[in-house]
Amino acid sequence: MVIGTGYVGLVQGACLASQGHQVICVDIDADKVNSLRDGKVPFFEEGLEVLVGEGIASGNLQFALGAEEGFTQLTPEVVFLAVGTPTGVDGSADLSIFESAVKSLVPYLTPGMVLVEKSTVPAGTGKKVLEWLGRDDIAVASNPEFLREGTAVSDFLKPDRIVIGADDIATLEMLKSVYAWCEAPVLTMNRESAELAKYAANTMLAARLSLMNEIANIADLIGANISEIETAVGADPRIGSKFLRTGAGFGGSCFPKDVLALEQTGRDLGYESQLIRPIIDVNTRQAEIFVDKVREAYGDLDGIKLAVWGLAFNAKTDDTRESPAMRIINLLLEAGASISAYDPAAMNEARKELKDRITYGKDQWGILSGAQGLLVLTEWDVFLSADYGVVMRTLEQPLIFDGKHALPAETLRDLGLQVIGIGI
Ligand code: UDX
Repeated sequence: MVIGTGYVGLVQGACLASQGHQVICVDIDADKVNSLRDGKVPFFEEGLEVLVGEGIASGNLQFALGAEEGFTQLTPEVVFLAVGTPTGVDGSADLSIFESAVKSLVPYLTPGMVLVEKSTVPAGTGKKVLEWLGRDDIAVASNPEFLREGTAVSDFLKPDRIVIGADDIATLEMLKSVYAWCEAPVLTMNRESAELAKYAANTMLAARLSLMNEIANIADLIGANISEIETAVGADPRIGSKFLRTGAGFGGSCFPKDVLALEQTGRDLGYESQLIRPIIDVNTRQAEIFVDKVREAYGDLDGIKLAVWGLAFNAKTDDTRESPAMRIINLLLEAGASISAYDPAAMNEARKELKDRITYGKDQWGILSGAQGLLVLTEWDVFLSADYGVVMRTLEQPLIFDGKHALPAETLRDLGLQVIGIGI
């Protein structure tokens, strides 16, 4: 059983069903459950809707409204908790949704069932779960996800590693059997280590990005090229070449939230981190530095018309949470610019926040006419492989602002476009 049908829970449920497990996904939102029963995924994640359809057709994947209905339809051996743990007021993870999900299960859990933290929860939460359950015949384990939005299905089916944390061998073995189809190494450890490993991985990745972004800022000041530095740094096998791409900052529902929550976990335990908070501060400033670049190009942004390609925080997702694109658009609007934007998947999500403060294109091309420059803020393939000859001919001024450092700058320059980014 999987509790919560957001992108983590639904990927977990649909992928396990695709590997032959009997799975029931439970949610308390009736609209979501009804839509999922019809095979419709209420958000966009590449490959997920197909997998859900296949799961329903095979009979391995079912949906239920609320725990009671779920337990009527299936008696699970393992229950995965995959509900949201947003940032609370002090930066810590807000566990209220998670706690009420746990409590909703109490009447239905039977001895020997394993309850698994799939949501990202601070180290030590497992102990709280045992208290909320108020019984000791249920094992509580941690099995963090390492799924990137946009590639979550393939990340799940071909993971680098499976991390399982539990305090007894029987629980570890039970969870290992859930992943018996998977070739990746299974790393077993105690529950606190598994809980902390998730935060450690995300904080490490986010730190790497903020550090590279700072180096890009310095590169700009001395006329160095960050793309070349990235290659030189990544060639060191101790560092590795992945996850070094700089730009206007990172976004998403995980990094900002998890980094702040790790800082707060340390604080709650009496440890004041010196290094964690600046990861977020650098990231926030990165969007401002990018907007300064745009401002420098025009002198003054008041009345400037700009086209934006990309609103989602990552390609292949419709998620705009903490998206650098949203941050940048808000700053540009404050400075008096007017914006027309297009994203292949995230238009509806963006509209919820930006409302009618910008105009929305039907496709990526229409918004270029009359625009005095183009900002590329999400690395969708359709943007990276676009015909920039057409872009050059359509824009009023040949200015491209690359917020992801993913465009072939030399080719674009050969076409006569001026490519502007941080450190490029
Ligand atoms: C992240 C982790 O990668 C995943 O393992 C974890 O479980 C959830 O958090 P996610 O936030 O979905 O996944 O996407 P990811 O691909 O990691 O990208 C996060 C942000 O970093 C995006 O805004 C992306 O554009 C940015 N990024 C990524 C860079 O700026 N440079 C890079 O080199 C890579």
